[in-house]
Amino acid sequence: MVKVNSCVFISGAGTNLKALIGSSRNYNFPIQIKLVISNKKNAPGLAFAKKYSIPFMIINVKDSLFEVKILNEIRKKNINLICLAGYMKVLSKTFIKNFKGKIINIHPSLLPKYKGTNTFERMLENNESLAGCTVHYVNEKLDSGKIILRKSFQISKNETLKSLKIKTQKTEYKAFSEAITKLHIKN
Ligand code: GAR
Repeated sequence: MVKVNSCVFISGAGTNLKALIGSSRNYNFPIQIKLVISNKKNAPGLAFAKKYSIPFMIINVKDSLFEVKILNEIRKKNINLICLAGYMKVLSKTFIKNFKGKIINIHPSLLPKYKGTNTFERMLENNESLAGCTVHYVNEKLDSGKIILRKSFQISKNETLKSLKIKTQKTEYKAFSEAITKLHIKN
């Protein structure tokens, strides 16, 4: 099968990257990961790129040309899908325009609820009964692009920040790959 050339952006632990690498190693999964980009040089998630010999690039967001450098690399590798997997920087409007309809993000809440950061704290404060994650297209507005897939679960009575994060991320690993199989993308 011809797999779509993809790039995963990370900033931290990279456990979603790990799950995507796992899926992409299946013959029938529609993407291959050609590049990993991190805005943090010490992001633990880079270990997964190294382990699976996936080229990676560390970017310095203070460099005014950093997005141009990413775009150049992405074009060189004929990347047709960007997966934001815990990438904690907002991409510029110009970057998004250049890659319209080809950037997806995973977010740890049931959007449109709890956009932005500190999702778990806010959910618990509000005594929510449902938590989950959302995979969505990225547009110019934060966490507001078209939703591809959401997965939810019940918040238990004695839920803590830690348990909520663990349960959410477990849900994310399935949701991200499932969402990718629903996309209509080609090289
Ligand atoms: C994930 O839970 C993801 O939903 C979240 O960061 C975590 C990254 O974990 N993303 C956001 O909050 C984006 N707004 P990981 O590095 O272990 O994949």
